[in-house]
Parts: sequence; C-alpha cells; structure tokens
Amino acid sequence: MWNFKYTAQYLACVADLERHPDVQSMRFLPQHVKGVSTYDHCCLVAYSSFRICAALGLDARSAARGGLLHDLFLYNWQDRSLRTAWDHAFNHPLYALENAQNRFALNDTERDIIATHMWPLPLNRFYRCWESLVVSCMDKLCALAELMGLVPLLTRGGRLPAPRLAYIQDKPASAPAKTG
Ligand SMILES: [Fe+2]
Ligand SMILES: [Fe+2]
Repeated sequence: MWNFKYTAQYLACVADLERHPDVQSMRFLPQHVKGVSTYDHCCLVAYSSFRICAALGLDARSAARGGLLHDLFLYNWQDRSLRTAWDHAFNHPLYALENAQNRFALNDTERDIIATHMWPLPLNRFYRCWESLVVSCMDKLCALAELMGLVPLLTRGGRLPAPRLAYIQDKPASAPAKTG
C-alpha cells in the first residue's frame, strides 16, 4: 500500500474485518475504473484516512474500520438491473451501513463514517464527527485518483497485490541491515 512503515498499525485496526469473506468479496466487485475493485478502493480510503486521522490526533482506528467498510454495499453498482444510478448514489451508504452492522459491532464514529461518506448526497446526512469528514474527503480524492489512473503510482509495483493481507504480512517489519 502507500506507506508500509505503518502497515502493522493499520492491520492491527482492521485485521478482523479483513478476515471476513464478505469484505474479501469486494475484490470481485467493480468500482470506478477497470482494474481497481471496490475492495482496492476501500483499502485506499481506509489507509489514507487512518494516516491522516493519526496525524491529526483523531480516532484513527475508527477511521480505518469505517473506511474499509464504507462501500460494503455488496452488489455490482454498474448493473442497472439491480439498482438505479440515483438509488445507488444516494442510498449505498445506508446499504453498506446495514451490511456492516449485520456483520460487525460498530461504534458511533464508524457508523457515522459509513452513513455520511457521500455528503453532500444527500445534504441532510451530514458528518457528526471529524473522522467522517476525513473519510469522505479521502473517498472523493481516491475516486479522483482512480479515475485519473494514478493508483499504480500509489501502490507498490504498479499493481495492487493480491491477496493484500498475505502480501503485507509477508513483509518484514523492518528491512534487514545491509552488510558488506
Ligand atoms: Fe461510497
Ligand atoms: Fe467510496
């Protein structure tokens, strides 16, 4: 991911979510562009929000968890036989929240992050905590980066590793000292 220096801290916040098959199923759902799944998008949003909230002294753990679950709507939003574009745009945070609540014990911040991440859609579903503002902003910035084809520049090796969790855990915590 973006900065492996903080991977261990990030995974400590979301490891239980990562192990859930429905979270992993987002790997097979499209998001904004070909080659970047809903899971990839959620990881980018979660990790960037985690880092920003940590730097700002906010609840980085909830930002990571809410970020990873913010698009857990679990359907192909590009299939118009399932949802209209209008329905998806306005209501997918509520579908994601319902799915997340049915699978995990969420705190108030995590619930707010998921429910409000599309603000200003709708206008009356506004943030109740700073972490929601951070995740919502990173959601939009990550979507823009995806649309501009910048994801390969934000991830190692020009492609998103799969499976990500195994890839991260395989990496040593610190690089061995060079000898000779
Ligand atoms: Fe979303
Ligand atoms: Fe999103």
